[in-house]
Amino acid sequence: MKVLVIGAGNMGLTYSEGMASSPLLSKQKLRIYDTDPNKIKTLNEDGRFNVFSKLEDCLPKSDLVFIAVKPYHCDDLFTEMKTMINKEQLFVSLMAGVTIESIQEQLDTKKVIRTMPNLPAQVGKGVTSYTESKEVSAIELIMVRNLLDTTGTSIHVENEMYIDASTGISGSGPAYVFYFMQSMLEAALKMGFSENDSKVLVSNTFEGAIELFKQNSFSPQSWIDKVASKGGTTQAAIDSMEDNNVNELIKDAAYAAFERAVELGKK
Ligand SMILES: NC(=O)c1ccc[n+]([C@@H]2O[C@H](COP(=O)([O-])OP(=O)(O)OC[C@H]3O[C@@H](n4cnc5c(N)ncnc54)[C@H](OP(=O)(O)O)[C@@H]3O)[C@@H](O)[C@H]2O)c1
Repeated sequence: MKVLVIGAGNMGLTYSEGMASSPLLSKQKLRIYDTDPNKIKTLNEDGRFNVFSKLEDCLPKSDLVFIAVKPYHCDDLFTEMKTMINKEQLFVSLMAGVTIESIQEQLDTKKVIRTMPNLPAQVGKGVTSYTESKEVSAIELIMVRNLLDTTGTSIHVENEMYIDASTGISGSGPAYVFYFMQSMLEAALKMGFSENDSKVLVSNTFEGAIELFKQNSFSPQSWIDKVASKGGTTQAAIDSMEDNNVNELIKDAAYAAFERAVELGKK
C-alpha cells in the first residue's frame, strides 16, 4: 500500500512523521507532496520521506491519500487532482469544515474519510476523530485508524455532526487549556513569582492533574472534592469560579466552536 500526504505543513508533516516513525510504512511507501519549493528542499534533506513536487508523479499510483492543505486551497487542488485519480483510491481529509459530500462531488469519487485532528498530534499525544462515507470498507477503516494512531489515539464517530462536535472539544480544545494556563501564569506573575518559576508551577500542576486523572477512575469532580476542604483555600477558588459561572462559560465556548464548525461546513 502506498500512502501519499498532500501538504507538508503543520498537520501533513505531523502525520507523515507519525507514520514514518511507525513500523507500518517503509520510506518508499510513504510519499509526501507540497507545492512550496522550500519545503520540498527541507524534506529532501530530512531524508525520511519519499518527496514529490509534481502531483502527476505521485497521485495516480497512491492507494491512500491524506489531504492536509488549508480549506481555501482545496478547490484548486481538487480541480488538479480530479483528472489523475481512480475509484479505488481512498481519500482521508484532515481539513476542518470540508464535508465528505463536497469532497466526493469535487473529486467525483466515493471513498472518503473525514477527520478532525488536534495539535498535540505533534508530540504523539493527539486525538483524531474520524468518520467515513458508506463506500469505505471495514478493512480500509482499520488500516486508516492504525495510521491515525501513529500520532496518538483516534476515535471513530458515527457521522459528521460528531466531527463538528469534536472540533468544539478536542480540535479547538488545546486552546482552551492554554487559555486557562495563561490566566494561571498571569496570576503567578502577579503574586511575584519569576517567569521561570511561574512556568514550572503551572505546567507541572497541569501535568500532575492530568496524570492523576488518567491513572484513576475518578471523575474531575471527585478530584475537586478530594482537594477542596470546606472553608479551605481550594474551595475559595472553586467558589469564586462558581460565582462567576465559569463552568457554564466554558461549555458555551465549546458550543461556540461546535456551531462555528457547522457554519463553516455549510459554506
Ligand atoms: N493546525 C491545526 O492545529 C489543525 C487542527 C485541525 C485541523 N487542521 C486542518 O489541517 C489542514 C492543514 O492545516 P495546516 O495548519 O497543516 O496548514 P499549513 O501549515 O498551511 O500546511 C498546508 C501545506 O499545504 C501546502 N499547499 C497549499 N496548496 C497546496 C496544493 N495545491 N498542493 C500541495 N500542497 C499545497 C502549503 O504550502 P504553502 O504554505 O505554500 O501554501 C503548506 O505547506 C487544514 O485544512 C486545517 O483545517 C489543522
